[in-house]
Amino acid sequence: MTIAELSNVPEHVAIIMDGNGRWANERGQPRSFGHRHGVEAVRTVVRAAAEIGVKYLTLFAFSSENWRRPETEIQDLFGLLKFFIRRDLAELHSANVCIKVIGDRHSLTSDILNLLLEAEETTRNNDGQTLVIAFNYGSRDELARAAQSLALEVQAGRLDPSQITPDAIAARLDTAGIPDPDLIIRTSGEERLSNFLLWQSAYSELMFVPEYWPDFGREQFFAAIERFGARSRRFGALAPTAAAGS
Ligand code: FPP
Repeated sequence: MTIAELSNVPEHVAIIMDGNGRWANERGQPRSFGHRHGVEAVRTVVRAAAEIGVKYLTLFAFSSENWRRPETEIQDLFGLLKFFIRRDLAELHSANVCIKVIGDRHSLTSDILNLLLEAEETTRNNDGQTLVIAFNYGSRDELARAAQSLALEVQAGRLDPSQITPDAIAARLDTAGIPDPDLIIRTSGEERLSNFLLWQSAYSELMFVPEYWPDFGREQFFAAIERFGARSRRFGALAPTAAAGS
């Protein structure tokens, strides 16, 4: 398949990058080895997505549940994110990529927080691709924080409870202003969302692919986009043929 043959390219693709540990294990290597190769897959997929005009790419880099991992692995993952931003920020900026970070920032140390803020600030006015990094992110936590913010507005008399609509909730999520993902890909053969974009995925197409994340490259990404192009999305309405026949 060539790029020209890809039709119906999704506006927003979100990815659960899974399988780094198993990939390393199969090679008799420590999990950190898998995560390091995972960063290379990140670079490849960011470029591939830009190449075909995917406007938003969201990557699940660290979940609010990943704190349950051993401290050394947590430090590895934090170190890799820092490494990625330090190494790639200038290139992403010159490629007109806008970086946004979603997730709870409160429990992050100042070094990582400052780096994330620098990445957002540097690329704020870029209007090419938007790269959304989900870091210390969990959907239930995000929804709870949105509920708290709504409750405070009601308490302060600025909002009537009848104004708590789906749009009002969406506007208080970390993803406010970002369209819902059209396609969510999870690598490594696992078939669940694991607290990722639960609100935003109401009408997303889900795709579970067998490759471990470090093996997910340009070719696998384009194959997923091609499969997406063949899906029929109805958003609760009838399929065109059924509607025409009624
Ligand atoms: C899942 O593999 C992957 C992660 C928990 C982290 C993903 C992080 C990266 C690819 C690197 C940093 C990110 C960026 C954006 C630069 P796993 O460890 O759960 O694998 P397993 O299920 O095989 O154990």
